[in-house]
Amino acid sequence: MEKINAVITGVGGYVPNYILDNEEMSHIVDTSDEWIMERIGVKTRHILKPEQGSGTSYMMTRAVKQLLEKTQADPDSIEVVIAATTTPDYHFPSTASLVIGNVGLKHAFGFDMEAACAGFLYAMELGANLIRSGAHKRIIICGGDHMSSMTNYQDRNTCPIFGDGAACVMMEATTEDYGLMDSYLLTDGKGYENLHMEAGGSARMPSHETVDERLHFVFQDGRPVFKHAVTKMSAAVETIAKRNNLSKDDIAWVVPHQANVRIETAVASRLGVDESHVMINIDHMANTSGGTLPLALWEYEPQLKKGDKLVFTAFGAGFSWGASYMVWGYDGAAEAAKSPAEFYKEGEISREEWYAKRGVK
Ligand code: UT7
Repeated sequence: MEKINAVITGVGGYVPNYILDNEEMSHIVDTSDEWIMERIGVKTRHILKPEQGSGTSYMMTRAVKQLLEKTQADPDSIEVVIAATTTPDYHFPSTASLVIGNVGLKHAFGFDMEAACAGFLYAMELGANLIRSGAHKRIIICGGDHMSSMTNYQDRNTCPIFGDGAACVMMEATTEDYGLMDSYLLTDGKGYENLHMEAGGSARMPSHETVDERLHFVFQDGRPVFKHAVTKMSAAVETIAKRNNLSKDDIAWVVPHQANVRIETAVASRLGVDESHVMINIDHMANTSGGTLPLALWEYEPQLKKGDKLVFTAFGAGFSWGASYMVWGYDGAAEAAKSPAEFYKEGEISREEWYAKRGVK
């Protein structure tokens, strides 16, 4: 029997149009544009306002609709929807089920996958295995988070980091040598003290006290997380490169989780890959957790060429991390042209113009 590979055949995305810039952030907490740019690398983040839509499913639904428009895929041919998110609309039902209902998919089953910032990376491997098994031919993998729903805007250590957004990919069966080739994924269970949300789950149920103590927000002790993120992602990309005989010149793109620009460049330099080959959009997307990897693909799609070798890496709560190697399956420029143009003009206009267009000072 011929080997079945799982290849990405389209990307859709959505970010809300409200932009929270560092100037506004400096009126919310005691911070400054200089500090945030120097220590994190975020200039602006998109925020989903309740009047615009609610929940992660709203953003994923918009992303999936765009994906279906771009790919012209028959909605009835979609067999599975995986939603990688840490901010599901509800404990249950799943966010994937809401997306399936909103989009009107009739022959799909769906479920959520929670692995914090590594969620999309894990979901790609899981989705690829559904395809490699021969059981499914066409699936959609979403990644996204409504991070502002669990960001403590009284805590300057965390609130400048996060933004909202979602994106998704179509993954299909092929017998050609394209698609997800290898993944090296790990979880060590050691990160709880450094990165968690204390209340709201079954261990510590919501109560007046937990609300008063502001325990329904992200808690992060940044320094140890930073250290672990750099060392573990660097080791993971090295492992994946080594076992697939990838030299730095073979790698067209490193696609890192967007948690901190210093982490992204440190990981790329460990591989010896020049920054111009690293997908970086943290400056205007911030950390959208499960959304960072597919949003990066969404924005860089015009530059992707069939046969490009990509190395993904992510790190998040759990600690959960890893790296994947993918051979890209199509020329992105034509597909990207079918998306809202404003997000693809970035390369043609200066960053200042791009911000000015959005009213960012
Ligand atoms: O996505 C999941 C994985 N997450 C990550 O990978 C995030 C990893 N961590 C980080 O990216 C960084 O640790 C942070 C961006 C969270 C923090 O940067 P840092 O360089 O580690 O800063 P720090 O926490 O060590 O704080 C340095 C100083 C402190 O002041 P003192 O104690 O030295 O006087 C903080 O109080 O900066 C202060 N500080 C701020 N100052 C202005 C902390 N937050 C801010 C702020 N504005 N927003």
